[in-house]
Amino acid sequence: MDILDIISKKKDNKELSREEMEFAYCGYLKGSVPDYQMSSLLMATCINGMSFDETLDLTDIMLKSGKILDTSEIKGVQVDKHSTGGVGDKTSMIIGPIIASLGLKMGKLSGRGLGFTGGTIDKLESIPGFRVALTSEEFLHDLNKVGFVECEQTPEFTPLDKVIYNLRSVTGTVESIPLIASSIMSKKLAVGAKYILIDLKVGEGALIKNKKDAVTLANIMIEIGKRYDKTVVPVLTDMDMPLGDNIGNSLEVLEALDVLKGKYGNLRDLCIELSSVLYSKSMGVNLDAARREVTDVLDNGLAYRKFLEFVKNQGGDIEKIGVAKYLKQVKSDRDGILKKISAYKIGVLSVHLGGGREKKGDAINYGVGIVLNKHIGDDIKIGDVLCYTYQDDEKNYEKEALEAFTIVK
Ligand code: URA
Repeated sequence: MDILDIISKKKDNKELSREEMEFAYCGYLKGSVPDYQMSSLLMATCINGMSFDETLDLTDIMLKSGKILDTSEIKGVQVDKHSTGGVGDKTSMIIGPIIASLGLKMGKLSGRGLGFTGGTIDKLESIPGFRVALTSEEFLHDLNKVGFVECEQTPEFTPLDKVIYNLRSVTGTVESIPLIASSIMSKKLAVGAKYILIDLKVGEGALIKNKKDAVTLANIMIEIGKRYDKTVVPVLTDMDMPLGDNIGNSLEVLEALDVLKGKYGNLRDLCIELSSVLYSKSMGVNLDAARREVTDVLDNGLAYRKFLEFVKNQGGDIEKIGVAKYLKQVKSDRDGILKKISAYKIGVLSVHLGGGREKKGDAINYGVGIVLNKHIGDDIKIGDVLCYTYQDDEKNYEKEALEAFTIVK
């Protein structure tokens, strides 16, 4: 087989066989296919798509590039949750502790930042000491002990997804429905939960921009789930605006903590809703009862304490989390009503501040980011602070930041 023939076949919009996909993707993992050829194949895939069979094959190839967790040793009901990616999305750090406080087990494989969207692994790594790479033994042990564990793809778990994910992030190939489906589903299948909630983000700040694509992706993931006897529960959620107020790795951890400590707003509401759907589906309780139980563990501090236990268990010291040294104000240059905050522009700004990667292997700055100070519908006067930027350099990002805000008379 020849990698150039495989790339050409995809470029000509022809279906690849399992053997061809194994040759290309496993070759990339082993190092016999270089970055530039895999980037080319990914771009052709991004443009021409994949059939369902190809998507299923790629999911399986990614899954079998590592091992599948032996879930027979997990005590209790195991569930999982994944977001398709958005700006300011720190829901896993809130939902995981809620679900574990309710007595369920959530063991999660996650990724780093993808394109202009952040990734939970980078966010967790902003906590000094937090270990994002666990062995399968540690994963199982911690899941039974704490009820919530989260780690990245490792040599044991979906190593192929790790290398493809990192390459997609910097080659403009993140917004591909089949690549998203296989990336997410391989990670979910590797750790074996029966119930998998997918927070399918839709909007300009998401990888999926419209409802039609979101429904297509949802159906593909449901079908993949069925082939492995898993129940995939997709929930479409809005991502035209950043989620919550903080965007940037450590800033997002701090906001997740605030919500666990009682902060109200759209982020808390979404976490309650997603946790309730997952709890209701997996435990067979009705949605209203699920909402009450979920709200209780948030309000009585159980979920907050579970988060602290989770962080400590994975070696993190939450007291040591830090933010960047310069805090700059971004002030409005006009009067009016705040009509829109562009999630996409805020996501890109966060990358420019150093919170995301522009090239493979870029180090990221965990402490930089944006904190929104105004919300949609607010009355704005010239000079009002719209947001703050946390930066480690003294560059002026004000113009770029202002472009994210639409203020109308
Ligand atoms: N999350 C993933 O794990 N993979 C994607 O491709 C997108 C979001």
